Amino acid sequence: MRIAVVPGDGIGQEVVPAALPVLTLLDEAYGLGITHDVLDWGADTWLRTGVGLPEGAIERLTKEYGAVLLGALGDPRIPDMAHGREILLGMRRGLDLYVNHRPVTLPTGVIDIFRENTQGLYVGVGGTVPQGGRTGVAIDECVYTRETVEKFVRYCLGRLRDTGRTKVTLVHKANAVPNTGRLWQEVFRRELEDFPGLEGSEEYVDAFCYHLVRDPSPYQGVLASNLFGDIVSDIGAALMGGLGLAASASICPETGIGLFEPVHGSAPDIAGRGIANPYATVMSLAMLLEHAGHGAPAALLRRCLDEAARGEAATPDLGGKGTTRSFMDAVLALLERGVAARGNDD
Ligand code: NAD
Ligand code: IPM
Ligand code: MN
Repeated sequence: MRIAVVPGDGIGQEVVPAALPVLTLLDEAYGLGITHDVLDWGADTWLRTGVGLPEGAIERLTKEYGAVLLGALGDPRIPDMAHGREILLGMRRGLDLYVNHRPVTLPTGVIDIFRENTQGLYVGVGGTVPQGGRTGVAIDECVYTRETVEKFVRYCLGRLRDTGRTKVTLVHKANAVPNTGRLWQEVFRRELEDFPGLEGSEEYVDAFCYHLVRDPSPYQGVLASNLFGDIVSDIGAALMGGLGLAASASICPETGIGLFEPVHGSAPDIAGRGIANPYATVMSLAMLLEHAGHGAPAALLRRCLDEAARGEAATPDLGGKGTTRSFMDAVLALLERGVAARGNDD
């Protein structure tokens, strides 16, 4: 398997290079046969050449790569994030990565947030009408097709059932945004009939956020449209202890290709200082390995990450005094020990 590695911008340039020695170590220890190419997509290339996602990139990714590992996009020199939308949303849409899995790991259990990743308010339909030299009207349409909602809901319910979950919540806003809201409700109720082991509930997104912060313990699986899922997953990250911990996988179940990236952005406020937490990016790499069928190294990696995050190399966002570098040194040392001690059945 070949992986396209896109560090991107800001702390993406720090946390992705920090993650790569883990890939090398596990590849050698487990004979995974994974190779990777580092691609320079991001703000610098955009400002130099005007190119975000190069021509033919989607075809190349589809033909030559099994997965993408991404850091983050976003640069203060490009305030409208035009390059980020082209690269990030371009890959999500171009590769039809309609399932975005953002697990929220809490002491009370894991909440699997599944975010639809290609449609809704992110379809890019809309425009502006000028008025007296300024913007008079601005429109961003929310578009959902039954086909996408159906395949998304069916896949997520299947994943939840297969991982032993018994409860799933649809997050929506059908009271105020009725057309897409009702389509989601209709599909959710219909698809649930095929999953008798799953108890479904529905919540308005505002009330859901309120309940989630008050007490996350009742939730197991959460299904959300694109923008709601984006927002709700940042709340989930805060509950976990910060964006530095939140990993994600964007996948196309039909082709199997996936984009693995932390939930956080390029964090310009701390970029260049060597203190960004690489946990979320390395955890996204663990999700990549798991997705590629390498469950044993993925599990070892998760254990080592958690142990390092509890130790003295934890980065400042977790209240520690560590750096990106010292945290990864701790993870690599634990991995080496874990690899040496592993059973023959790994
Ligand atoms: P952000 O996620 O970059 O940062 C939010 C806060 O969390 C900041 O205080 C930051 O310091 C902190 N933080 C984030 N990741 C951290 C880490 N690994 N370790 C320690 N602290 C961390 O969100 P923002 O500031 O709103 O956005 C910055 C830029 O990133 C914007 O251009 C935005 O559009 C972009 N963005 C990109 C992605 C992506 O590429 N997937 C995601 C979110 C935001
Ligand atoms: C995320 C980010 C992106 C999104 C932005 C940067 C386009 O917030 O991955 O969570 O909204 O999906
Ligand atoms: Mn986000």
